[in-house]
Amino acid sequence: MSSRDDKLIRFGVIGPGRAAARFAEGIAAVEGAEIAAVWGRNAERAAAYAEKFSVSAIAPALDSLLHSEVDAIYVATHPDTHAELCIAAIEAGKHVLCEKPAALNTSQLARVISAAIAHDRLFMEAMKPPFFPLYRKLRDHLEKDPIGPVKFVRAGHCDSSIGPDYPLHFRELGGGGILGIGPYEAFLSLDWLGPLKRVQTMGRVTTAGVDSFAIFQSEHERGMAQLHTGIDLLSHGDALLSATRGFVLLHANWWNPARATVHYIDGRVVELDEPFTAGGFNYETDHFCELVRNGQRESSVITHALSMGMARLLEEARTELGVRFPGE
Ligand SMILES: NC(=O)c1ccc[n+]([C@@H]2O[C@H](COP(=O)([O-])OP(=O)(O)OC[C@H]3O[C@@H](n4cnc5c(N)ncnc54)[C@H](OP(=O)(O)O)[C@@H]3O)[C@@H](O)[C@H]2O)c1
Repeated sequence: MSSRDDKLIRFGVIGPGRAAARFAEGIAAVEGAEIAAVWGRNAERAAAYAEKFSVSAIAPALDSLLHSEVDAIYVATHPDTHAELCIAAIEAGKHVLCEKPAALNTSQLARVISAAIAHDRLFMEAMKPPFFPLYRKLRDHLEKDPIGPVKFVRAGHCDSSIGPDYPLHFRELGGGGILGIGPYEAFLSLDWLGPLKRVQTMGRVTTAGVDSFAIFQSEHERGMAQLHTGIDLLSHGDALLSATRGFVLLHANWWNPARATVHYIDGRVVELDEPFTAGGFNYETDHFCELVRNGQRESSVITHALSMGMARLLEEARTELGVRFPGE
């Protein structure tokens, strides 16, 4: 076995849909990682995924994927099944990278994290923005040429172009704008403003019981955020980070960050431009693989506490609107 093979991280994919396709596009740009196997409840779609992305094994059942030779499982189903699949994978001895939101609510996520700790496995929520070159460059830039502590975050996105059969329309799948789009906004506010103190929400709920539009504002230890999500309006997905000596505009679509403009109180304007490659899932995947290789059990970027904070913010925002998922 070559030294490169020694470091190879083999993934098993659960849920070969849209996110999993982007994961496959990204992994092609990650050194020392591959998708070794896929399982989907629809065998034809799993076979099409395997063929398109040159995955050598199609697991005939979930259990056979979980007990195969893979090192890690990437969970890319809808949020209603994230917690149970993550726990099953962890209990089978696999490290887990799970799509956002990592669970429907804080109690599910607490069970996932407890399982990861009990079984000594790595668990990380796939929250991609902080790994993008632009986001890292922005952090670096603000260290060297500061605007002061960020005390206000404004971010949001609405997308009414999604079809009526899109998962976000269905309560039983963990739908709604808050859970579908909101994880990014929750991340941005927690990342810049620190732990959550409280949330206030206004919004509309569909007859199917999911939030179609929501404005939620959150108070954090270091400031406040004004956030919005929607699935029946269109909006421009940019974001603002505001401080005493300047502000940053993260240009659309900020959750795939590629451009930012920093405005200073003295009139200076600095443009940051860092295109991303391979669809952008590659950066978080690379980070996850490094954690596996180094025997680490928690990311220092997407910590368990940060995931819990995101889950709490989203849960409080939607329950204030009366959005509850089956079993809650
Ligand atoms: N990070 C990002 O940029 C990004 C982008 C898009 C989505 N996401 C996240 O990724 C997740 C999936 O979204 P998506 O847009 O990829 O959805 P999608 O295209 O509908 O794919 C979902 C996949 O999960 C499978 N699945 C659904 N319910 C299942 C169940 N009960 N048991 C087993 N398999 C099941 C589906 O199987 P069938 O084909 O049989 O229906 C499909 O393969 C969501 O949490 C979403 O928020 C993240």
